[in-house]
Amino acid sequence: MSHRLSHDDIESLLTPINSFLQCRTPEAWLERAKQPESLPVLLRDHMVCELKAAQSAMLLIRRYAVDEDSGNALLAWLKPYEDFTYRMVGDWRDLAQHNRLNKRMVPKSDRPYSQELIDKMVLLIKEELHHFYQVLEIAQQLGIDYDKLTSSRYARGLLTHVRTYEPAALIDKLICGAYIEARSCERFAAIAPYVDERLGQFYVSLLRSEARHYQDYLTLAQQFSDEDISDRVNFFGAIERDLILQPDTDFKFHSGLPV
Ligand SMILES: [Fe+2]
Ligand SMILES: [Fe+2]
Repeated sequence: MSHRLSHDDIESLLTPINSFLQCRTPEAWLERAKQPESLPVLLRDHMVCELKAAQSAMLLIRRYAVDEDSGNALLAWLKPYEDFTYRMVGDWRDLAQHNRLNKRMVPKSDRPYSQELIDKMVLLIKEELHHFYQVLEIAQQLGIDYDKLTSSRYARGLLTHVRTYEPAALIDKLICGAYIEARSCERFAAIAPYVDERLGQFYVSLLRSEARHYQDYLTLAQQFSDEDISDRVNFFGAIERDLILQPDTDFKFHSGLPV
């Protein structure tokens, strides 16, 4: 859905996100992102980030929520996207027709909130795969071919702090998901005015779904926890802020301060 957002719509989407995040994107990152030579890496990394967002949501529901057959249907759903991205197999134009899940997801237990996790994550995967396709479309229009690239330190830098016992691990992964979505949303809005107009409009069109993804992750994290998660949210918030503000030699969509 790419309905035009008004200035007020954008502000109301970004207000909770900017108070959730502990810092704004530094001016130096924006300066670097504005340079035309940064565009290929931004687009390629963005595309891979959309796939990774779909993959981590899929891993969450396979690990925590669905039975084995449902898990296999999820793997099959993402496979053509992974083949294209990691093995350079297939034509990207065929990917749009693969974005459907043909099997009803069966929860593996009656654990509270399993169904809600499944429903939110299945919608999220569908949207991320659609974004993935949209990035390829716009890259094509801008004359930028897909090429493999290394992954940035950002997601790894957050996930390395995930606790190793349950349900703490699940709660932490959900909080990390909320930060990644929120930062993406903040960055799309921040660079939209400085890039090619079509690309800027595309970035703005992503704000609504990415803002909802951030909120869904946060809501789920609190639902799976018996305690208030604010301390844990602040803990990850500080790590996330450092990843954004500390010097980073590897310019990417989620990179830190360019050096
Ligand atoms: Fe997305
Ligand atoms: Fe998202």
